[in-house]
Amino acid sequence: MTKPTFLALHVLLTAMAHLIAAFSPPGSVVQSAVLVNDIIYVYGGQGDGMQASSNLYTLDVSRSWTTSSPPWANRTSDAGTVSVPKVYANVMWPSSDGNSIYIWGGSGGYNVTKKLAQSGFAQYKIATRSWSIPSTIASTPQERYFATVAWTSFGKAYIWGGWTDVYTGNTSRPKMTSNTNAFDSNKLEWSVLSSNITPRYGHTATILPTNSAVWSSQNAAGSYTPGPLQSHNAELGTDGISIIICGNASDVFVLNTQTWSWTQPAIDGTVPPERVGASAVMVNGQMILFFGIHTSENSSGSYLNDVVILDTRTTPFRWATTFDPLTSTNPLAVVGGIGGIIGIIIAVLFIGVAIFLFIRKPWRRSDNPKSWT
Ligand SMILES: *[C@@H]1O[C@H](CO)[C@@H](O)[C@H](O)[C@H]1NC(C)=O
Ligand SMILES: *[C@@H]1O[C@H](CO)[C@@H](O)[C@H](O)[C@H]1NC(C)=O
Ligand SMILES: *[C@@H]1O[C@H](CO)[C@@H](O)[C@H](O)[C@H]1NC(C)=O
Ligand SMILES: *[C@@H]1O[C@H](CO)[C@@H](O)[C@H](O)[C@H]1NC(C)=O
Ligand SMILES: *[C@@H]1O[C@H](CO)[C@@H](O)[C@H](O)[C@H]1NC(C)=O
Repeated sequence: MTKPTFLALHVLLTAMAHLIAAFSPPGSVVQSAVLVNDIIYVYGGQGDGMQASSNLYTLDVSRSWTTSSPPWANRTSDAGTVSVPKVYANVMWPSSDGNSIYIWGGSGGYNVTKKLAQSGFAQYKIATRSWSIPSTIASTPQERYFATVAWTSFGKAYIWGGWTDVYTGNTSRPKMTSNTNAFDSNKLEWSVLSSNITPRYGHTATILPTNSAVWSSQNAAGSYTPGPLQSHNAELGTDGISIIICGNASDVFVLNTQTWSWTQPAIDGTVPPERVGASAVMVNGQMILFFGIHTSENSSGSYLNDVVILDTRTTPFRWATTFDPLTSTNPLAVVGGIGGIIGIIIAVLFIGVAIFLFIRKPWRRSDNPKSWT
């Protein structure tokens, strides 16, 4: 093959590699998820043929995409030689500087009846895409699973409740707990908080913009009374007051934390498959829900690998099929940002080179083939 043809092919293949980089994750339930800057990070979970996993996926929310082809990337191999925990129903939270993500707890699976190494505590550094096990941090709490985490904007994460049994290395009777622990990502310190509240697991916790972590008990009333829920999802609304709760993904209700009242919003669009154990992240007023176990009365409890968007910016709310990114004011976003522009320029160049080669057939006029190599 002649050099210009080879170069053009190489450029085309490189451009195509970017386009087909998105992959389709396997179905999974009770994985943990967190948004840092413009990327959603997803860790762990349980699925077909995996009781607990160390899968790490990312989803880019800096640009628009549709729910039929979300731009997932598989970052599991970032672990390299580090033994990151294989877990499900663990918790994950970011550092306040947005440079790191921490994971803790979870269960190692039905066959792992011993404590996780380091209680499943590990750190992922975003800039270097590398994992480490922070073994020097003292008093790391023993792991629980189905606990929840909520974090302040200044780097304090609160982990509350969860379940302890032999699968978390606790040889006592299986039990749900009200244990509450805090991790300070600035001081790298764990602490234990007292809590006399009712033990629970598979619950949610949502921090308000006040960043307060003081227990108080409220009774909520209103036009709607939610039934009992487990392994559901809750996210703070863009008003900083409303907590939007999705049970089964499709059963949505809103708690107003100023009036302590429940309402059930009207929702347009196609209702997504019902599920438990999904993950949720709020981005630009859109609650992105993904994965979980299908709970329809006629389903066999299959693991889902889909992405669902609940757009809470409109009245009524809307089940959307297109994600609207944070950088919606960027005119380049329509064509995929800078990457899209570069892709288009490369494509135009490639077509130009191809036309040139086709019309001029320069190799035919070459007296010295060696000059091409
Ligand atoms: C994701 O990457 C890991 C590590 O390279 C690999 O073992 C796994 O099969 C990948 N998952 C999928 C669904 O391709
Ligand atoms: C692991 O646990 C599952 C569920 O209890 C069981 O079916 C399976 O036989 C176990 N596998 C091993 C290797 O013990
Ligand atoms: C172990 O389980 C017991 C109850 O069965 C509970 O009181 C205790 O807090 C658990 N320990 C840890 C470290 O979770
Ligand atoms: C969730 O779905 C299951 C199965 O259809 C149903 O039994 C349950 O009542 C639903 N829960 C809510 C809160 O909608
Ligand atoms: C389940 O199957 C029955 C019988 O085919 C049908 O009548 C019912 O509507 C189905 N339910 C759901 C939630 O799809």
